[in-house]
Amino acid sequence: MEEERDDESLYPDDLLKIAKDPDHLGRMNDPSSSAYIKGPCGDEMEFYLVIDNGVIKDIAFYSEGCIATRICGEMTSKLAKGKRIEEVLDLSPKKVMGELNGLPADQKHCTILAVSTLYKAIAEYLLKP
Ligand code: FES
Repeated sequence: MEEERDDESLYPDDLLKIAKDPDHLGRMNDPSSSAYIKGPCGDEMEFYLVIDNGVIKDIAFYSEGCIATRICGEMTSKLAKGKRIEEVLDLSPKKVMGELNGLPADQKHCTILAVSTLYKAIAEYLLKP
């Protein structure tokens, strides 16, 4: 399983390009909120948000997980950046999958890990005193 999920030949070139050079990979020192989830597969995901007036002005994700984890973290970041929180609540793993043609079927749970971690970071923000 470990080797299979990191087999580049299973991914189309455009998705591999996203995995190799994601624009939003990184951590932030002083975000408005952040969240971490370890998925049942063992991969970990972190999300960092800068929120201003209800808008996600900046976003970063961090993961050392599989290729698909980086692809899904990047696409989730891209779809959420610049949007109002209410709009982002429409974002689903299905929507992220819809942007990622050719994502191997076994890796579709990676979209759930990415979107769940984003949602957890939003919840942390909304619940701040
Ligand atoms: Fe589980 Fe990638 S293999 S999130």
